[in-house]
Amino acid sequence: MSSITLIGTGNMARAIGTLAVAGGNTVEVMGRDQTKADGLAEALGGGATAGKWAAVPAGDIVITALLYAGVVPVVAEYGDALAGKVIVDISNPFNATFDGLAHGEETSIAGEVAKVAPASASVVKAFNTIFRNVLEDGRPDVFMAGDDAQAKAAVAAFIESLGLRPLDAGGLKMAHWLEGMGLVTVALAGNGVGHWEFALGVDEFTG
Ligand SMILES: NC(=O)c1ccc[n+]([C@@H]2O[C@H](COP(=O)([O-])OP(=O)(O)OC[C@H]3O[C@@H](n4cnc5c(N)ncnc54)[C@H](OP(=O)(O)O)[C@@H]3O)[C@@H](O)[C@H]2O)c1
Repeated sequence: MSSITLIGTGNMARAIGTLAVAGGNTVEVMGRDQTKADGLAEALGGGATAGKWAAVPAGDIVITALLYAGVVPVVAEYGDALAGKVIVDISNPFNATFDGLAHGEETSIAGEVAKVAPASASVVKAFNTIFRNVLEDGRPDVFMAGDDAQAKAAVAAFIESLGLRPLDAGGLKMAHWLEGMGLVTVALAGNGVGHWEFALGVDEFTG
């Protein structure tokens, strides 16, 4: 089982934290609002604890469950507290019209996180292609990307502990395209699919 720290106390932190506790993982919650962190840890149960903002996280895997604009500044603020950690960025940096990404073509929030994180930390993009409600009720594939095979193996083991299938999409440069995939998922919800109760996944037709 894994030890994880959720930085953030919103919808995704609650959804991932709930699955993590059910999967027997050790869970810590950190939030810039300590009251919210305390409250979420209590609501999660299963021995979940609340840490102090910007302290060294207890978890080996640190999930930044933050709105995209906050992710890079918060990782920079934590600084050396994240040394040796596997940082999982789940954010979707959409533009205001939901038809493009909010940053330049060649980067990703995960890629920018890697630039400000300690050299000994590893960055993995994951979970961004799954709507919160699907995480709560479904068994979607979880796409991920990152440069460090050991870090991805650790995140894959965590994902499997949630009862979900991890699918490795390659190196950290692919985080850009996973962010695009998040955008496509939202576009499908608003157009062809017409609701939010679905996730993109992989069906294999191997004969
Ligand atoms: N919801 C989904 O279906 C979904 C699906 C896939 C990916 N995502 C991604 O997951 C991330 C979290 O989404 P969410 O739905 O959980 O959002 P949310 O419910 O609005 O929660 C956002 C969290 O981020 C914190 N936060 C925002 N800006 C911050 C900053 N500058 N510094 C520190 N903390 C900050 C908020 O803290 P306060 O409460 O103190 O404001 C809150 O804890 C987003 O990047 C989103 O794109 C969401």
